[in-house]
Amino acid sequence: MSIAVLEGVKKKSQFYNDVIEGLQKSQKTIPSKYFYDKWGSELFEKICELDEYYLTRTELSIMKQNIDEIARKLGSDIQLVELGSGSSLKTRMLLNNLPNIHSYVPVDISDDFLADVADELQAEYPELNIIPVAADYTRPFELPVKESQTRRIAYYPGSTIGNFTKEEAGRFIALIADLIEDEGGLLIGFDLLKDEETLIAAYDDKQGVTAEFNKNILRRINNELEADFDLDAFEHKAVFNEEKSRIEMHLVSITDQTVEILNSAIHFEKGETIHTENSHKYSLASFRKLTKGHFHPVKTWMDKDEMFAVQFLEK
Ligand code: AVI
Repeated sequence: MSIAVLEGVKKKSQFYNDVIEGLQKSQKTIPSKYFYDKWGSELFEKICELDEYYLTRTELSIMKQNIDEIARKLGSDIQLVELGSGSSLKTRMLLNNLPNIHSYVPVDISDDFLADVADELQAEYPELNIIPVAADYTRPFELPVKESQTRRIAYYPGSTIGNFTKEEAGRFIALIADLIEDEGGLLIGFDLLKDEETLIAAYDDKQGVTAEFNKNILRRINNELEADFDLDAFEHKAVFNEEKSRIEMHLVSITDQTVEILNSAIHFEKGETIHTENSHKYSLASFRKLTKGHFHPVKTWMDKDEMFAVQFLEK
């Protein structure tokens, strides 16, 4: 078997193990990272354009309005390390406005996606030193060497930090602090706590795009793990968990049913749910708690309605 085929088998069995393990818990779960196959990523892009999903356009407008000050805070001669997908307008805005950027290091778990992004950006910015790194950035990984005077800035936009539990988010912040070394910084976007109605609408839009995004995880399991989920037998549900300050997405079984996944049978009772995603909402104080001990906030930018925050932190 070739190495590429072996890697494929390994990834598939990891996916299978995670799905079976999650569906055997008393509160059934499927990790949200499995939303993003090709169709899932396209659906997520559609979500970002929805009227109800204020996050993307608000973060972008905060960046646009404050780009000069953001650039000044980040400093010159920097190595910009973007954690996660690096294809967005926000990245280009930074690249266009950072004086004397030394290198851009997009880090992503999917090497295909990374290579495409790096090629596209290299064509647009021929002078820029682009060094893609394929890695699971939630675990320690190696970054390309840099000159001692070059400042390493981690960039983590999109409120993706919200998809971690508080414990995972705390560990992740500690990992970034190690990664950037003493002189470095972190530029991060996070969604702010607000009224429940606005939050629910953002995760249960009228057109049903988020519902389709949620159900796509079942379609993916059908396609890749020979399962027989009936997508019409599950309903999308978004709830606000006040105690944990997060939106939760669930798939509700609308009937008693048994689903086959490869050789395993999983039973669902009517009304039972699969918990597919958490999206934590922070206040400035709760975000401070999360980063304390690793970083201090240098500057926070928000929109006038205080829906979303972009923060620059140093060690
Ligand atoms: C990627 N992440 C920040 C999105 C969020 O808002 O938690 C994923 C998403 N789920 C439903 N809509 C968007």
